[in-house]
Amino acid sequence: MSLYLDLLIRCITNTIYGDANKGYWRPAEYDAEARREGLDWPEVAHSMIGVLRLENLCRLTRTVLDEGIPGDLIETGVWRGGACILMRGVLKAYGDGMRKVYVADSFRGLPPPDAEKYPADAGQTIHTYDYLAVSRDTVAENFRAYGLLDEQVVFIEGWFKDTLPNLTVSAFAIIRLDGDLYESTIQALDALYPKLSVGGFVIVDDYGSWPSCQQAVDDYRAAHDVRDRIVPIDSTGVYWRRTT
Ligand SMILES: C[S@@+](CC[C@H](N)C(=O)[O-])C[C@H]1O[C@@H](n2cnc3c(N)ncnc32)[C@H](O)[C@@H]1O
Repeated sequence: MSLYLDLLIRCITNTIYGDANKGYWRPAEYDAEARREGLDWPEVAHSMIGVLRLENLCRLTRTVLDEGIPGDLIETGVWRGGACILMRGVLKAYGDGMRKVYVADSFRGLPPPDAEKYPADAGQTIHTYDYLAVSRDTVAENFRAYGLLDEQVVFIEGWFKDTLPNLTVSAFAIIRLDGDLYESTIQALDALYPKLSVGGFVIVDDYGSWPSCQQAVDDYRAAHDVRDRIVPIDSTGVYWRRTT
């Protein structure tokens, strides 16, 4: 099983062929260290979160399965789908035919900043990057390429503010947040964190790299008296385990 999951991570990050960085702020070439840390924007690979954060996701997913923590798995902000493909792969490797992987995205990029409601997002221009707009069909095709597209994969299409509060899921074991903005982070926490099982994990991709994301997490934790220890994964990703 470990060999399959390790190969899955190598394929999802494309460390095998080593495709170039897109070239926005780093040189347009393959840099193995940047890919490991999830610091580049790949031309071809199915995830931009890098080897370390995918290994962390794999480990935490295995932990909830090994320990029988109840609930489904979700990522909010999936881009080409690689992190969700990995979660589906872990379920498959464990022979779990019950849990679902929720794949939540607009499938058209980020929303323009709503600075009135979320001042921390004022001035953001990330919604202008076409690179971040990946269609639902493309993501589905990516799942299919790994032999992992089936009824346990559920696409949640639309802006988080419209979709996440209406999910009828009763419990989550893993919540992975990767929507960059304050708005996208707080909306996901508001809608999903109350459904996170005790013993489940919340993973925040952008905590160390997006001050507005960090602020959303800190605001949510303060407002809801969440004191579980924040554990760093790499230079940006963090997680904590729900204990109460
Ligand atoms: C940085 S990418 C995610 C990277 C991905 N997790 C991976 O493994 O490579 C951010 C994604 O979040 C989505 N997104 C951000 N804010 C959103 C929102 N408010 N509603 C819907 N989708 C959103 C974007 O469409 C984009 O696909």
